[in-house]
Amino acid sequence: MDLKEELKKKALLVENALEGYLPLPDTYPAVIHQAVRYSVFAGGKRLRPALVMAGAEAVGGDPQKVLPAACALELLHTYSLVHDDLPAMDNDDYRRGKPTSHKVFGEAVAVLAGDALLTLSFQLLAENAAGGSAGPEDVLRVIGEVAVAAGTFGMIGGQVVDIFSAGRAVDADTIKYIHSHKTASICRVAVRAGAILAGAKEAPLAALTDYAGHLGLAFQIKDDLLDFEGEAEKIGKPVGSDLRNKKATYPLVFGVEEARAEAGRAADRALAALECFGSEVEFLRRLAYFVIDRES
Ligand code: IPE
Ligand code: IPE
Ligand code: MG
Ligand code: MG
Ligand code: MG
Repeated sequence: MDLKEELKKKALLVENALEGYLPLPDTYPAVIHQAVRYSVFAGGKRLRPALVMAGAEAVGGDPQKVLPAACALELLHTYSLVHDDLPAMDNDDYRRGKPTSHKVFGEAVAVLAGDALLTLSFQLLAENAAGGSAGPEDVLRVIGEVAVAAGTFGMIGGQVVDIFSAGRAVDADTIKYIHSHKTASICRVAVRAGAILAGAKEAPLAALTDYAGHLGLAFQIKDDLLDFEGEAEKIGKPVGSDLRNKKATYPLVFGVEEARAEAGRAADRALAALECFGSEVEFLRRLAYFVIDRES
């Protein structure tokens, strides 16, 4: 399997589906629908929706049937980026290779576009997530889990500690908390959503959750490394943003070498979590090393 080709295939499915789910840009009040589309279609690796589809595939489900949930996770992720870039947060001017939402539409519309993306993601789950073997109980479970993963015990919790740790000496537990909450929470729930909607049993679900937790940590450590030593044209966002903001990152706290080593160990642990599966998780296996070898 060519991982990049498979990622591209999944991204295309998601982008086509999103095109149909998002209100057209001239829908009143037009500016908010333009802002929502601007950030969603600016690009992006579409990693979270790929995890949703791969979660379904891992338990023998049809990835097409979990497309609405995959799209919902991408909307949720895009909301987190729009708010993360705001002047009150990381204050970044570029995202996905384009000026950030607040640079184009102003801060008020960027805040509202983030809000709109978050609510739209739950609307999509509630209205369209039932497919395949998913009944209302599975859909409700997924909605509840996504809410927890996005909230104060998940991504928001991580973002809060990220902001309040800036400029301070942080210990290993704190930085692990930040990364596993702000980033890995959403990776975990993405893979779980796909698997649950495809009727997963608890044991494979637990293994997939374990995988995605390690993958998410590896992914965020690599994100920190790219902020340190990446190329702005490739990552589509500024290099050095974390240093400017005095953020607690793995390379800053542990050094570049140890950060690389820890990302490698996290990818190894992700791979090990998939031992109980066969060739149906080939995509996920390759993804574990893709996230630490990527240049964007
Ligand atoms: C960026 O995520 C935010 C983090 C959690 C590190 P991605 O690197 O997946 O961003 P896109 O979706 O490809 O733009
Ligand atoms: C953000 O982490 C994680 C989110 C929940 C959006 P970063 O602040 O490191 O993400 P980038 O580097 O701006 O994409
Ligand atoms: Mg941030
Ligand atoms: Mg940021
Ligand atoms: Mg970053």
